[in-house]
Amino acid sequence: MVAKKRILSGMRPTGPLHLGNLHGALLNWIDMQDKYDCFFFIADWHALTSDYENTGKISGFVREMMIDWLSVGLSPEKSTLFVQSHVKQHAELFLLLSMITPVPWLERNPTYKDQIVQLSSKDLSTFGFLGYPVLQAADIIMYKANGVPVGIDQVPHVEITREIARRFNHLYGKVFPEPDSILTQTPKILGTDRRKMSKSYNNAIYLADSPDIIRKTVATMITDPQRARKSDPGNPEVCNVFEFHKIYTDSQTRQNIDKQCRGAQIGCVECKKIMAENLIKALEPIREKRHYYTAKPDLVEEIIESGSNTAREVARQTMEQVLKAIGI
Ligand code: TRP
Ligand code: SF4
Repeated sequence: MVAKKRILSGMRPTGPLHLGNLHGALLNWIDMQDKYDCFFFIADWHALTSDYENTGKISGFVREMMIDWLSVGLSPEKSTLFVQSHVKQHAELFLLLSMITPVPWLERNPTYKDQIVQLSSKDLSTFGFLGYPVLQAADIIMYKANGVPVGIDQVPHVEITREIARRFNHLYGKVFPEPDSILTQTPKILGTDRRKMSKSYNNAIYLADSPDIIRKTVATMITDPQRARKSDPGNPEVCNVFEFHKIYTDSQTRQNIDKQCRGAQIGCVECKKIMAENLIKALEPIREKRHYYTAKPDLVEEIIESGSNTAREVARQTMEQVLKAIGI
């Protein structure tokens, strides 16, 4: 039997997960669980690179993130689910890789330059923030991952990872494969204001939202911007609400809505109500599982521990090879 390819990806625990995360990453990860040997982890040390002044929420976010993951269908039976800081070898490999990573590779990293501008309220002139991709490289090559499912914004980091792996192999002998990015399609659904769905824009629908909150949030969604009144014909093709219908509403109802919208026979208020109820129904099983895991903190802790143990054993073996190759 040919060994399954190994896949690895991670998320920073910066807050609760929303539908953008679900359609942009998690559903893809869930699909991969049966085909590949998957490692998924919560990158809590990476959260420190930008939030080192406010660390109070990180550990709660880690637990919540694992609950979200389990609730949408990531399975500890199929995949190795773990937390970065529970596998100290990541720090050791990060240190060793930092010895061979030229600073200009990091300084010209596009996400580095972007983030410094975008997060101007934070002092990001730290060694750790510059070294973000080196830690990410350690995360990835520690498990000799072949593929890294990521959004387009993370591709430069995987590219730097390949360069670091190549340099290591060149200097000390071949230990690491060079991982490929597996590009995740960006979801068509946008936030309530039609910008990318994001916690920082305050335009997100969260997996943990109650039905009432979902109804209220959906009611605020911007629709076809050309349509001011019910008597104006609308255009579903440019309407974000309709993108949600494409996911959550059955095709017969959706075709009717399409016709009625174009013919000015249905108003946006009613159309949104239909969508909100379908969305609420679709999220119901996730909400139930969230309740289940939220009521069982020990179980969640156990799942994190057991996944981290598995990861640690792989990491231990890699570090043996790494130290031997370097000769210390
Ligand atoms: N940098 C990634 C993000 O912000 C998170 C991350 C950390 C990651 N280490 C990783 C993703 C390794 C893939 C592989 O989304
Ligand atoms: Fe969008 Fe529905 Fe309004 Fe048409 S009726 S513009 S599809 S919200």
